[in-house]
Amino acid sequence: MFARRFQSDFLESRCSSCHPHLFILGLILAYFLSSHVQAFNGQRMCRSKNETSKYQHCRLHPDGVHDLDCFGRFKNRGMIECVWKPGNHTSEKIYTLLLIQKKKKEFCNITESSIIIKVFEGLNMTVTVFENGESEKCTKAVFSGSWSSLLRCDPPYEVSFRRRLGNLHVNVSWQQTVVKHFSVRYKVLGSLLWTEPPVQSHNKKGCTVENLNSSVFYTVQIQCVTTERCSQCPWSETYTVPSELTAQPAIVHLEDSDITERTGSRLLSLHWKFPATESYDGYYVTIAKASGEDPCERMNTTRPEIRLILSFSSYRLNISAWNNASISPAVSHTIPQREDGLEEGKLNVTVHSDTSLTVYWKDDLIKTYVCFSAEWMRKRHQRASMSFYQKAYNWRTLSSLQEPLEPYKRYSLMLHTRPNKDTCNIKYINRSESTYGTTQFYSIQGFHDKRV
Ligand SMILES: *[C@@H]1O[C@H](CO)[C@@H](O)[C@H](O)[C@H]1NC(C)=O
Ligand SMILES: *[C@@H]1O[C@H](CO)[C@@H](O)[C@H](O)[C@H]1NC(C)=O
Ligand SMILES: *[C@@H]1O[C@H](CO)[C@@H](O)[C@H](O)[C@H]1NC(C)=O
Ligand SMILES: *[C@@H]1O[C@H](CO)[C@@H](O)[C@H](O)[C@H]1NC(C)=O
Ligand SMILES: *[C@@H]1O[C@H](CO)[C@@H](O)[C@H](O)[C@H]1NC(C)=O
Ligand SMILES: *[C@@H]1O[C@H](CO)[C@@H](O)[C@H](O)[C@H]1NC(C)=O
Ligand SMILES: *[C@@H]1O[C@H](CO)[C@@H](O)[C@H](O)[C@H]1NC(C)=O
Ligand SMILES: *[C@@H]1O[C@H](CO)[C@@H](O)[C@H](O)[C@H]1NC(C)=O
Repeated sequence: MFARRFQSDFLESRCSSCHPHLFILGLILAYFLSSHVQAFNGQRMCRSKNETSKYQHCRLHPDGVHDLDCFGRFKNRGMIECVWKPGNHTSEKIYTLLLIQKKKKEFCNITESSIIIKVFEGLNMTVTVFENGESEKCTKAVFSGSWSSLLRCDPPYEVSFRRRLGNLHVNVSWQQTVVKHFSVRYKVLGSLLWTEPPVQSHNKKGCTVENLNSSVFYTVQIQCVTTERCSQCPWSETYTVPSELTAQPAIVHLEDSDITERTGSRLLSLHWKFPATESYDGYYVTIAKASGEDPCERMNTTRPEIRLILSFSSYRLNISAWNNASISPAVSHTIPQREDGLEEGKLNVTVHSDTSLTVYWKDDLIKTYVCFSAEWMRKRHQRASMSFYQKAYNWRTLSSLQEPLEPYKRYSLMLHTRPNKDTCNIKYINRSESTYGTTQFYSIQGFHDKRV
């Protein structure tokens, strides 16, 4: 149970948000606005008049406008986006973009270094960007291509890694729905060469790289596999994947001490250690009541110690180390029930049948509490528990017990008080209940016979 929660929580908790599509939508909207009014914030003007002669003096120059790149997207039919990097000699920059497709010629003036323009899909295109066309020192950059070779599918917007048993599982999410498969390339962190060949996925979501060395860091990149609808698949940024955690934390100190001002509660201090050679970022401590009652709470801490205020009940806990690609094997520990320190004779139990009993308590607890939990067990057997709301009487009949009581057996029962008033179920483990008392009872003989 512990391990399963662990993993799903871990995966669910990894999410990063980033919305390049909003940016693109913005650009497209800007385009439509501008093509209707022929002006966009006074910064962009387009016309088809032949102005080629004005820019004849512009030159290709390494210090001038450069790295002009144009690409389209399958879902934005008939549009391309062009981006370029400004030259480094002047601070004031005005760009003129010239798009040529067969007979079509379009000039646009803009101040930004990107633009979305409408093109004819079937035709090859040449795009030229002039920087400061009015100036003597005008520079230009040129790009040529055809629509079908320009369809770009960006790297995944979300990537997560999970290392286990020498394998690396890569999970990705794509903005573009036309992506069908992807490739993963990897190398040992710091090395120059990528391991060849890249690993190809069987679907668009996940891929497993096998036979890695668990103790080393890797550098990983991801790209889609090109298709007709994704003719360009750029590599993603490089991700650093830390080594797989294979050691188990070891508990070095466990102390169970009294809390003078809180009878029925104890302070549990737990210290553990983990090899410093492993690259971990923190620890997960999961803790739940041994009775199986929810919740199974996971705490995230960077220090190898924890202090909890618990009732006298028994708890189970797991500790593992984590980094952003793996979770170490867990060390499990059962915190035993506290036997001493409770006054006798404050509780008694009357058994009515194998599925019904009444618990009475001596003090007028309902003045202070409305939420209670009864927990009962036979020695060395699984515990059962039931939480309940009681504000009228200092007793409570528990019926329809899920696990019938065994006849002729001795049980012990604990009653806990819970400080919450809205729900009698536990929300958090720490400081969630105190033990009021404990007592023994025998399941009455004969109720098995009566039933038949
Ligand atoms: C761009 O600006 C230049 C200089 O101001 C001007 O000569 C040209 O006509 C403009 N072109 C367009 C398409 O507005
Ligand atoms: C545009 O003008 C240039 C130079 O003035 C000329 O060489 C070219 O043929 C013209 N192109 C068109 C399509 O009119
Ligand atoms: C577009 O350009 C490619 C190569 O540059 C060429 O093979 C192809 O025939 C051109 N297509 C058209 C429609 O001009
Ligand atoms: C894994 O990497 C470690 C550290 O670089 C190295 O000592 C070890 O020999 C490697 N193991 C294998 C099986 O290559
Ligand atoms: C994972 O952790 C490593 C080292 O701690 C860090 O360099 C890297 O950026 C992290 N990767 C992600 C995807 O968070
Ligand atoms: C654990 O805590 C660290 C930092 O305190 C945080 O970056 C990380 O996301 C947390 N993990 C989970 C699963 O909450
Ligand atoms: C539990 O509560 C005590 C008392 O408020 C506090 O000192 C301790 O840090 C808490 N433990 C955790 C894990 O939050
Ligand atoms: C059990 O509780 C009932 C109700 O409070 C009380 O009458 C009875 O004396 C108690 N018996 C014992 C043995 O404490």
